[in-house]
Amino acid sequence: MRKEVVLITGANGEIGHGLISHLSEIDKTHILALDVMPIDDELKPKCERFIQGDILDNMLLGRLVAEYEIRAIYHLASILSTKAEYNPETAHKVNVEGTLNLLRLAVEQAGWQGKPVKFLYPSSIASYGLPDLQMKNNAGKVKEEDWCNPTTMYGCNKLYCEHLGRYYTKYYRQLAAEGSQSGIDFRAIRFPGLISAITTPTGGTSDYGPEMLHHAAKGISYKCFVRPDTRLPFMVMPDAIKALLSLESAPKKSLTKLVYNVTSFNPSAQEFYDIVLDAFPNAQISFEPDYARQGIVDSWPADVDDEAAKKDWGWSPEYDQQKAFLEYLIPAVKKRYQ
Ligand SMILES: NC(=O)c1ccc[n+]([C@@H]2O[C@H](COP(=O)([O-])OP(=O)(O)OC[C@H]3O[C@@H](n4cnc5c(N)ncnc54)[C@H](O)[C@@H]3O)[C@@H](O)[C@H]2O)c1
Repeated sequence: MRKEVVLITGANGEIGHGLISHLSEIDKTHILALDVMPIDDELKPKCERFIQGDILDNMLLGRLVAEYEIRAIYHLASILSTKAEYNPETAHKVNVEGTLNLLRLAVEQAGWQGKPVKFLYPSSIASYGLPDLQMKNNAGKVKEEDWCNPTTMYGCNKLYCEHLGRYYTKYYRQLAAEGSQSGIDFRAIRFPGLISAITTPTGGTSDYGPEMLHHAAKGISYKCFVRPDTRLPFMVMPDAIKALLSLESAPKKSLTKLVYNVTSFNPSAQEFYDIVLDAFPNAQISFEPDYARQGIVDSWPADVDDEAAKKDWGWSPEYDQQKAFLEYLIPAVKKRYQ
């Protein structure tokens, strides 16, 4: 008998940390964790098994199909937006070919099991691309269908993988003689910038928010790489985990979309700075915009419309801006760096 598991790729990343801790607490889910990097010691006992390996390694993925009954996949492994711009072709390989490998694995699993495999995909506001700052400032709450003209390799990868998810779910091998269903139940969330109190980001372009906070808590000076007026949507990690788990458990018939916006609050960088300085009066933060990274952030929406997520699967963030900082981020980072 093959053991039933939930596969988490990119398990050692920021979302992986939150997701593994949460999943291992709320029920008896057996977690099969995969990451190209070694996994943190504290996560190991929470997983059925950890495999250090690459999502581009098809032999490895083939072995997983043979050994486990994978009922759901949280495909988190990715090269994030800033890192991806330094090596776009490698990013494309990992972000797109890697996702294709996981989709293929899901098709095989669904075939063996005779039932759909859920494929949870964390997309990003990087899938959007507004042409200039004026458009961004006038766009209001951007809907899923609007402004899908990403300007980064990462954003192109995310948007294309959303399309792959749609293809595999609805049109897979549509010319086959008897029709062919992939058996994949693809569900994606376009996340805003995520802020965790327990991990620090690496390689994203919304990182200025969490970096400001973690540097202040550590007593290290920080140069913010965007202008004070820069505005992006953000969310704290517990809400990101809540969103993933809520979407996973939503009845299929209530879902009108494959890709959903979610958001929580959207401070400007100046407002972020003010809150951080209030909590850490000795913080040394200066604004020294990097114009290339600023250009990327200026192409991402200042706010997104998450009405569909609210209506279809009851999405509602636990943390608004005040609660996020006062009850989660500030106490937790203070404790962490004490
Ligand atoms: N953190 C955010 O603000 C944010 C926002 C929107 C979307 N997302 C998406 O959520 C997912 C997880 O993000 P995160 O913040 O945890 O990122 P992260 O960079 O912290 O984690 C990604 C993990 O993937 C692993 N990885 C990279 N290449 C791999 C490969 N070839 N094979 C196996 N593992 C590999 C890395 O070692 C890392 O542990 C990503 O797909 C990201 O695009 C994140």
